[in-house]
Amino acid sequence: MADPVLKIDALEVLFPGFRGNVHAVNGVDLEVQPSEIVGLVGESGSAKSVTAMTALRLLPKGSYRQDAGKISLLGRDVAKMSERDMNHLRGGDVAMICQEPQTALNPTKSIGKQMLRVIELHSDLRGRAAKARAIELLQDMRINDAEEILTRYPFELSGGMRQRILIGMAFACAPKLLVADEPTTALDVTVQRQVLQLLHAKAHQTGASVLFISHDLAVISQFCDRIYVMYAGRVVETGPAQEVLGNPQHPYTAALIEALPEDADPGAPLTSIPGTVPNLVKPPRGCAFQPRCRHAHADCVIRPHLTPVGPDHQAACWLREETPQ
Ligand SMILES: Nc1ncnc2c1ncn2[C@@H]1O[C@H](COP(=O)(O)OP(=O)(O)OP(=O)(O)O)[C@@H](O)[C@H]1O
Ligand SMILES: [Mg+2]
Repeated sequence: MADPVLKIDALEVLFPGFRGNVHAVNGVDLEVQPSEIVGLVGESGSAKSVTAMTALRLLPKGSYRQDAGKISLLGRDVAKMSERDMNHLRGGDVAMICQEPQTALNPTKSIGKQMLRVIELHSDLRGRAAKARAIELLQDMRINDAEEILTRYPFELSGGMRQRILIGMAFACAPKLLVADEPTTALDVTVQRQVLQLLHAKAHQTGASVLFISHDLAVISQFCDRIYVMYAGRVVETGPAQEVLGNPQHPYTAALIEALPEDADPGAPLTSIPGTVPNLVKPPRGCAFQPRCRHAHADCVIRPHLTPVGPDHQAACWLREETPQ
């Protein structure tokens, strides 16, 4: 097998705070293979964004502490890269579409100016050739009057249009890895689907890998090859998307699926499991889901580790493992 484009080993991240440290990421292992579309799913606060942002070194310096773990991005150790190399990698071989798309485009500059800047920064194309590339990228995102759109300012465009432009821009430098953090949450359901289909098609066409963060289990199962289910800063279940969602082995995954009403708004936050996510200033000693788990028993005060439950399928639950001695 080829080397993974992203490999995270035993990552631990905390945010120092006056009321104690927030232990956001508590031992995450994650891998994205070339051309693979990997989903990261879990309730709000499970540390999906912090995990992805740490991997791309996008959290503000000094705001967090990485206490353990190793991150390798396209074969390079992220901890050992200079700021300059890291900047070059981001927006080049690695692109990110953030959770708050409104802030990703500069309101004072035309779309054309912003796209050309990105294209010129990361390729040899200049002037007319760069403009032609911008038009091509917008057309790939099914934007018809691309030339005209280049003259517009972000506020003159709909949310769906802005998001398609951001995805087009993300592909400007032919990234090997695209991290898409809830890229369509702000959009209505039909537009969400269209935008995701375009994203998916473009990733397939270019062979880019995608780490796709979403609340939407239906979207995850439709678009992802493999998924990681996160809870309280840990991966509780992972495997092929269809297998994990069709045959969940962790009570948390099962609860997420059960909590999804038939006619759920796909973008709706996953909040309908009884109880709340634990306080990460004092994370639970054993299984973090135990206080909300209807199968909880005495052993659950000991932390379960990911263990094979099927082909390429792992879950971290004592129900699926030998009882600890
Ligand atoms: N700068 C920060 N300072 C302190 N705590 C933080 C900071 N950023 C994130 N956290 C905490 O880290 C935990 C994980 O946050 P994160 O944003 O990764 O969750 P998420 O899974 O992406 O949630 P959502 O689905 O709402 O985007 C949360 O408890 C959050 O409050
Ligand atoms: Mg997030």
